[in-house]
Amino acid sequence: MYVCICNALSERKIRQSANQNGPLRAVGEIFRALGAEPECGKCAAHAVAIYHEEAARQTACA
Ligand code: FES
Repeated sequence: MYVCICNALSERKIRQSANQNGPLRAVGEIFRALGAEPECGKCAAHAVAIYHEEAARQTACA
């Protein structure tokens, strides 16, 4: 499922990035780690929530 239409970012891609890059705080950092830039911003809260959820899950399992 696409989370970010502007950048064609899927939930899977966001979770993979969190697994590879670990905890990042700022929206811009998270998008840069995905090789993208926020455009309309409508997805930002959802994308960040998915990213943080996955990063926290990885930290808990480590
Ligand atoms: S939907 Fe993600 S920046 Fe527009």
